[in-house]
Amino acid sequence: MYLKELKLLNYRNYDSLHIEVHPKLNIIVGENAQGKTNVIEAIYLCAIGKSFRTNKDQELVKLDKKQAYIKAILEKANGEIEIEMKLDKEEKKKIKVNRIPLIKMGELLGNLNVVIFSPDDLKIIKGGPVERRRFIDNEICQIYPKYYYHLNQYNRILQQRNKLLKDNRGKKIDLDIWNHQLANVGAFIIYNRRKFIKRIGILAKLMHRKITDEIESLEIIYDSSIPVVEKDENNDITEKFLSELKRTCDEEILKKATVVGPHRDDLLIKINNMEVKNYGSQGQQRTAVLSLKMAELEFIKGEVGEYPILLLDDVMSELDTNRQQYLINNLKNIQTFITTTIIEQLKTKEINNRIFYVKKGEIRIKD
Ligand SMILES: Nc1ncnc2c1ncn2[C@@H]1O[C@H](COP(=O)(O)OP(=O)(O)OP(=O)(O)O)[C@@H](O)[C@H]1O
Ligand SMILES: [Mg+2]
Repeated sequence: MYLKELKLLNYRNYDSLHIEVHPKLNIIVGENAQGKTNVIEAIYLCAIGKSFRTNKDQELVKLDKKQAYIKAILEKANGEIEIEMKLDKEEKKKIKVNRIPLIKMGELLGNLNVVIFSPDDLKIIKGGPVERRRFIDNEICQIYPKYYYHLNQYNRILQQRNKLLKDNRGKKIDLDIWNHQLANVGAFIIYNRRKFIKRIGILAKLMHRKITDEIESLEIIYDSSIPVVEKDENNDITEKFLSELKRTCDEEILKKATVVGPHRDDLLIKINNMEVKNYGSQGQQRTAVLSLKMAELEFIKGEVGEYPILLLDDVMSELDTNRQQYLINNLKNIQTFITTTIIEQLKTKEINNRIFYVKKGEIRIKD
């Protein structure tokens, strides 16, 4: 799939923008704070329905305006898709796909697939478990809308269950009904996360081996707070989840919170058997993220049948020449958007591209 056109009205620092983009490589050049990432963010928004920089839609609307509008036209194997989004400082955003208004936000997922790679992604390695769970959840939601609904449901049940634990101030309460709901939905989440990590783990291992000239072996393991094993199906996980809830009952009352479940799970990312988070060099950490991102591209291709769009925000200058070259060589069939402050540093000269120069929310094109 690839983006053909992007239109922005009153979005961030753009009054009005209408660009036709290149089916392969688009390079967005400009000094700091000119509006490069804003373009990437708008594309991401059309895919996921929310920004990767903020949860507050009102921040996306130009400061002195009330409403913003985004339109993206894409080409997919089975035809053209038009995504429109109206953002309002006071109301919920409204989305249309091929002019049909969406009732639930989740309906947007699956129309446009993207993989984003920005310096912030180092958090997948260096940050806390929240970052790694967010990474997994975002990826699965994109290709499996049912997961998105289950995740929302899980968080609602968890919130209510935690509220009961808090309100009861240390007294024993009957949480039986809640436990069953939590375990049922939670097992679905754990099962799918494990499945996803297994697939993406194999792909990332392959990528990593190639990038490091066969020297390093990357391993990604889903580290669950529920003692699941390889062959566990959904209902096995539900049973284990339930018995863990029973086992931790006293601890829960003490801590006034649910202490096991997918909301407490994590990922272990290892290179040559050592955790990258604690033992990896800066370069190894970056390379591990690069391998993960490359794996995501292949994973989505495998699931959806088409490559997603790749958004590279400010990462090229962080990679050494070999890594840049490896990335570029692997992007031949993938529409890519690269932002950079210095175009001379990019090793992309041999590929057909379109260059966009950004200055104060205005774009000039050079073919
Ligand atoms: N809601 C808004 N209304 C008006 N301007 C905004 C709004 N939100 C952000 N901006 C402006 O957008 C600019 C930042 O844009 P962006 O993040 O795209 O910059 P960039 O070109 O990617 O810069 P860098 O190279 O530093 O990453 C800033 O000047 C900021 O003040
Ligand atoms: Mg930026």
